[in-house]
Amino acid sequence: MLAELSVSLWRGGEDGRYETYSVPRRESQTVLDVVTFVQRHIDPTLSYRFACRVGVCGSCAMTVNGKPRWTCRTHVSKVAGSGRLEIGPLENLPVIKDLATDMEAFFEKWQKAQGVFAPTKTRHDEIEPIRPDSPARRLADAAIECINCGVCYAACDTVRWNQDYFGPAALTRAWTLLNDERDAGSTARLQAVAAAGGCHSCHSHQSCQELCPQALNPTAAIAGLKRRTTAAYLKGEIKA
Ligand code: SF4
Ligand code: SF4
Ligand code: FES
Repeated sequence: MLAELSVSLWRGGEDGRYETYSVPRRESQTVLDVVTFVQRHIDPTLSYRFACRVGVCGSCAMTVNGKPRWTCRTHVSKVAGSGRLEIGPLENLPVIKDLATDMEAFFEKWQKAQGVFAPTKTRHDEIEPIRPDSPARRLADAAIECINCGVCYAACDTVRWNQDYFGPAALTRAWTLLNDERDAGSTARLQAVAAAGGCHSCHSHQSCQELCPQALNPTAAIAGLKRRTTAAYLKGEIKA
C-alpha cells in the first residue's frame, strides 16, 4: 500500500477546478475519511456534506473517480487502486460550493411524482394489519429502503438530457406508495407519473440500478409504473 494518496478535489462553484492534495493512507479508509482529512488538516474552508457516516442518512454522495457513490461506505482500496482519487460534486445537480450540491430539484421532483403518503385512515381508526407476504407489500418492500442519496439521479443520462425528468428516486418512491395498501393517492400519482417528465421518459439504461448503494432497482420500479399507467389509461382512469 502506498503511504500517500494523491487526491484531486473540486473547489469552487460550477466554474471551479480540481486541486490536488496528499493524504496519508490508513487501514479501512473511506472516501469520506479522505475528504474529512483534507478539511480538518489542510484546508478548513472545504465544503462537503455528511451526517451519519454509516450509510443511513444519504447525505454524503459525491462523484468518485467518475462515478457517483456514497462516500462513507466506499473504501479507498476499492476505488483507488492506482493511489489516485478524483472527488467531485454529484452530477445533474447545481454546485453550491466544492463538493456540496443543491438537492432542491431532486426533492421537488418527489413532490411532482406525488411521493407523499396519502392516508386512508386517521389516528382514531384501528391500525390495519398488512400481511408481510402479500404481493403488494412485497413490491413496496423492494423499494422502501431508499436513503435519498441522489446517486441514481446523478447516474441517469435521461436526467442529464432532460432536466424535467423526475428521475429514478422520485419514481421509485411513487412505485412504493402505489403498492402501499394504506395509501389513497394512486389515481393522482398515476396521472402525475404518466405526464411529461414521468416514467415514460426512462430509457431503461439501468445506470441507476447498477450504482444504487442500497441495491434497489429503480429500473424495475419504473417499468412497473409504465405498466400501471398504461393499464389505467386504457381503463379510462387517467387522461393522456
Ligand atoms: S434509489 Fe438508491 S441510489 Fe437512488 S436515491 Fe434511493 S438509495 Fe440512493
Ligand atoms: S433506467 Fe431510467 S431512471 Fe435508471 S438511469 Fe436509466 S433512464 Fe435513468
Ligand atoms: S454520511 Fe450518512 S450515508 Fe454517508
